[in-house]
Amino acid sequence: MRLSLLLAGAINLVATQAISASRCTPETFTPHLSSNASLVYAVPYGPNDTFVGPLSNYTDLPEYCAVYVNVSSSATSSYEFGLWLPINNWNKRYIAYGNGGFTGMVQFSDMAPGLFYGFATVSTNTGHNSSVTEAGVAPWALNNPETRTDWGWRALHGSVDLGKDLTEAFYSEDISYSYYSGCSTGGRQGLKSVQMFPDDFDGVLAGACAWWTSHLQNWDLKVATYNLPNNGSHHITADQIDVLADEVLRQCDGVDGVEDKIIMNGYACNFRPEALLCDSPNANTSTCFTADQIDTVYKIYSPWVETNDSFVFPSFAYGSETQFSGMIITADEDEDAPSGIAYPRDFVYNDANWPWQNLDFSTIQLSDQLDPGNATADDFDLRPFQNRGGKLMHYHGFADGEIPTGSSIYFYNQVLKALAPLGIQLDDFYRFFLIPGMEHCQDSVHDAPWYIASAMQPSSLTPSNVWSVPGFRDRKHDAVLALIAWVEEGIAPEELIATKFVDDDVSEGVQAQRRICVYPAEAKYVGGNWNETSSFECKY
Ligand SMILES: *[C@@H]1O[C@H](CO)[C@@H](O)[C@H](O)[C@H]1NC(C)=O
Ligand SMILES: *[C@@H]1O[C@H](CO)[C@@H](O)[C@H](O)[C@H]1NC(C)=O
Ligand SMILES: *[C@@H]1O[C@H](CO)[C@@H](O)[C@H](O)[C@H]1NC(C)=O
Ligand SMILES: *[C@@H]1O[C@H](CO)[C@@H](O)[C@H](O)[C@H]1NC(C)=O
Ligand SMILES: *[C@@H]1O[C@H](CO)[C@@H](O)[C@H](O)[C@H]1NC(C)=O
Ligand SMILES: *[C@@H]1O[C@H](CO)[C@@H](O)[C@H](O)[C@H]1NC(C)=O
Ligand SMILES: *[C@@H]1O[C@H](CO)[C@@H](O)[C@H](O)[C@H]1NC(C)=O
Ligand SMILES: *[C@@H]1O[C@H](CO)[C@@H](O)[C@H](O)[C@H]1NC(C)=O
Ligand SMILES: *[C@@H]1O[C@H](CO)[C@@H](O)[C@H](O)[C@H]1NC(C)=O
Ligand SMILES: *[C@@H]1O[C@H](CO)[C@@H](O)[C@H](O)[C@H]1NC(C)=O
Repeated sequence: MRLSLLLAGAINLVATQAISASRCTPETFTPHLSSNASLVYAVPYGPNDTFVGPLSNYTDLPEYCAVYVNVSSSATSSYEFGLWLPINNWNKRYIAYGNGGFTGMVQFSDMAPGLFYGFATVSTNTGHNSSVTEAGVAPWALNNPETRTDWGWRALHGSVDLGKDLTEAFYSEDISYSYYSGCSTGGRQGLKSVQMFPDDFDGVLAGACAWWTSHLQNWDLKVATYNLPNNGSHHITADQIDVLADEVLRQCDGVDGVEDKIIMNGYACNFRPEALLCDSPNANTSTCFTADQIDTVYKIYSPWVETNDSFVFPSFAYGSETQFSGMIITADEDEDAPSGIAYPRDFVYNDANWPWQNLDFSTIQLSDQLDPGNATADDFDLRPFQNRGGKLMHYHGFADGEIPTGSSIYFYNQVLKALAPLGIQLDDFYRFFLIPGMEHCQDSVHDAPWYIASAMQPSSLTPSNVWSVPGFRDRKHDAVLALIAWVEEGIAPEELIATKFVDDDVSEGVQAQRRICVYPAEAKYVGGNWNETSSFECKY
């Protein structure tokens, strides 16, 4: 792979110098480990070698040195991290990738594309091993306060810190720039790092951030309880969610001036659920809603506000229904443990028998007070990060049916309220992007352009080993390159362009591209084929 042929606009990804694979041995790294840390392995991988990961196997990557380290973080906890160091194409940049949900797993699926750019890449297991199918459950957290702290912030910070030392030891050269890319829990980790360790990264790309842990994680349960018990007259079925999605699209698609099935602002629609009301006693109730079910629909799209007008959490946006099933449909045999119960039960009350029916405002108050693991990223004064020259890019899909888009909007506005009165222009160091039609971190509804090459995205395209935006490896289309241009060249991103490949298969070509604007600007239709970038302009 000749990276010089893939030069990305103004972004220089050219390798500085190759290093000998023979340096990839334990002897290179062990002298640089802190006393808490031990080397698990340091092994060179050539293009014909297969790295066997927990979820996928990786082959045909640029040659790299795979390092794995175990760090004891307390008497009762430890975290692990993977560090992949390019052998022929290191460009002196270092990037950390974040995690998802409560999952404990090194994010090899992002480290692999990172190698093609020429990054030294690092990712932690957050202090425990658990699989993606266990993203919403956290048995590891029960009775394990130190492991919660690893998940909350310690594993990422410690891995990044030690990973930098090992990187510089391997190349005998300094890292020029340090970056971060993560989505969901990874978005939270990015904001947490900005707040707690502003020196860790020069640039942070944080998506669909699960930042408000003490509220979000309880809201996850709240929204599931709206639809329980399953035999209640207000319970709506998975089939009805599809009917709801169709009706939302029918009422809301045109609000933005173009009926392209993409709702550009999911909070701008004046949706009227009563259009779904059954109109006779004999109506087919899989395609219409009873009065009690309409009440459930109202709850789903309403913010959670508690005693004394305390705002707890925003609602889903219209257009995010595709992912609702996983949030609000509880299997009959799981009615004692609906989605979302993990956090209050295993982190906050630390009581395996805590019944979900006890969820109320005191749960929020206790969660705020304890904030297990100090995971919540709610320190809105980002001046330390700004003052050290850091740049933050934040994005969220408008069709996110796992973490409401409004929680990112709320975060941005809290930072604005903290800093604008001090005369600070957020655009100077913090820019926020909403991606219409994008689901949680990846994929989209109705073929909306969504792909910006951020964390968790390349692995949801085919074929395997996609990196950056094939055909558009530049700072307009690739959010990581946009961040690099901002940090290294002072070129702030005025917009991004999201891409939709036909069937999410790069080999089938581009189906549509659309501008993604810097909040609060929105992409407004100005005429022409809506699949074309030029048919939209960013306007306030
Ligand atoms: C990889 O395998 C191919 C096909 O078997 C072979 O031609 C090539 O020399 C191998 N490369 C290395 C670095 O071993
Ligand atoms: C990865 O390779 C291992 C060993 O060859 C094999 O057992 C495993 O099934 C492979 N995993 C995947 C996801 O292909
Ligand atoms: C890391 O250390 C912990 C605690 O000593 C141990 O339980 C775990 O198995 C180690 N992990 C690896 C991959 O060596
Ligand atoms: C090393 O372990 C000690 C005590 O177990 C702990 O205080 C310290 O924070 C650990 N260091 C790292 C880098 O985790
Ligand atoms: C965690 O998973 C990694 C594979 O990703 C494995 O190498 C490691 O041994 C596991 N750690 C423990 C403690 O099981
Ligand atoms: C729902 O199920 C519970 C427990 O099986 C039962 O006690 C209750 O009567 C049922 N309610 C309705 C409306 O069928
Ligand atoms: C109700 O509507 C569903 C979905 O269109 C259909 O599959 C089902 O056959 C209908 N039931 C009746 C009794 O008509
Ligand atoms: C609501 O406000 C009243 C009056 O300030 C206060 O006494 C009460 O404790 C508050 N309730 C909660 C749940 O915070
Ligand atoms: C918890 O995290 C916040 C940043 O989100 C930080 O400001 C605070 O110092 C941390 N508290 C502790 C006790 O570590
Ligand atoms: C946009 O692309 C889709 C998929 O190719 C196509 O069905 C649709 O007609 C296109 N829209 C316009 C306005 O050409």
